[in-house]
Amino acid sequence: MIEKSLTLPCGHQIPNRLCKAAMTEGLADAHDHATPSHQRLYSTWARGGAAVLLTGNIMIDRRYLERAGNVVVEDRSGLPQLRDWTQAVHNGGSQLWAQISHPGRQCPRLVNLTPLAPSQVQLRVAGNFGKPREASEADIQDIILRFATTAGLMQEAGMDGVQIHAAHGYLLSQFLSARTNLRQDRWGGTLANRASLLLEVIRATRARVGPRYPIAVKLNSSDFVKGGFTLQESVQVVHWLNDAGVDLLEVSGGTYEQLEFFKLQAEDEIRDSTREREAMFLEYAKSLKAVARMPIMVTGGFRTLAGMEAALKDGHTDMIGLARPFCLNPNFPTQMLAAQLTHLPVPEDKLVLGRGYWGPNSPSNSIRSLNNLSQAGWYYHQIERLGAGRSPQIDLKPLPALVRHFGKDLARGFRRKFASAHLTLT
Ligand SMILES: Cc1cc2nc3c(=O)[nH]c(=O)nc-3n(C[C@H](O)[C@H](O)[C@H](O)COP(=O)(O)O)c2cc1C
Repeated sequence: MIEKSLTLPCGHQIPNRLCKAAMTEGLADAHDHATPSHQRLYSTWARGGAAVLLTGNIMIDRRYLERAGNVVVEDRSGLPQLRDWTQAVHNGGSQLWAQISHPGRQCPRLVNLTPLAPSQVQLRVAGNFGKPREASEADIQDIILRFATTAGLMQEAGMDGVQIHAAHGYLLSQFLSARTNLRQDRWGGTLANRASLLLEVIRATRARVGPRYPIAVKLNSSDFVKGGFTLQESVQVVHWLNDAGVDLLEVSGGTYEQLEFFKLQAEDEIRDSTREREAMFLEYAKSLKAVARMPIMVTGGFRTLAGMEAALKDGHTDMIGLARPFCLNPNFPTQMLAAQLTHLPVPEDKLVLGRGYWGPNSPSNSIRSLNNLSQAGWYYHQIERLGAGRSPQIDLKPLPALVRHFGKDLARGFRRKFASAHLTLT
């Protein structure tokens, strides 16, 4: 099944069923433009053989980032760099799709002390996020326009599709959730109101890119937090997406409060598990697949060829999304397509800062956050190495990964601030 092509509702063809899911790169320059590191990183991945490479979060508004180092596309200033990036991927034989995104309240203080969100519900994780400002009607209209503008620019740069990020607790996901969206106006309250921003963004994007250009949506099957977006709500949203002209639905789950998509998996757990346990969201995706009229892609936890084949053959998903394995072995798709490789590496149980109280299941929120950050830092390091044309450094320990991550993040944040201050002065 994995090597079979897939035709999307818009008519676009995808040559096989493997997709590199979005991973934020942190490789943009101080003006938030793509760089030669993006080209090197993605041409390595493209040569690996996956049909589609999704970019990491590309932000629609320079004021609000998921992280300093994100590429921002809000005007034509970075188009030549985007074209080079796309060309590098096409030369390697893959398609490049842009994940377009707004972080909402999940925008770190280093980028903006007052993020923009549906309501003033502050994210309390590691003291890293300021109290958000509630989006006004004008802000909401601006957000809709920005998503469409960014998508149009991606199309102009030659990218093969766009994905609207409505998962993982970012802005559109915050609007969907009754925990973060406390609005009383037409954008809050009932699920229909909470989903209307996502539907408006898709409508405006489709109007901008035309009927033949692929539009995907990444949606949570559930937020996995009390009072958040539920599986039942997700099923209803998929009903609405059926009529919205979406070509591919990626299913994930979790937010910064509950990093479900980032779960640590022990190697023996996967070896002994049923395939349902291998892919974290497959069980949930079945309910969405039952109502979805567009193809779906499940992402999260796939690590065996047998698990991927079975999920496709049983009709639980149409595409397989994978992220972390690309940082360890960029060539695995070709090796899997040739059935030379059946199991992907699972280093997660070695990426923890400690066990018990100091481990990823610690009763302390802060310790859990530090474990998540060290895992993220470890993967960011591999992405940077691949972007520099080097091979992954698998023996990096989690504590140095964490320290590096903090240092690099600070440096990127300040470099960016100096660059924009310089621009303002000159
Ligand atoms: C380093 C890293 C960065 C990520 N950045 C993004 C991102 O920019 N956008 C997104 O939707 N998901 C992001 N994710 C989540 C992945 O797309 C994916 O949903 C998750 O890693 C589960 O898939 P996996 O088990 O195959 O890694 C990121 C994951 C990692 C490890």
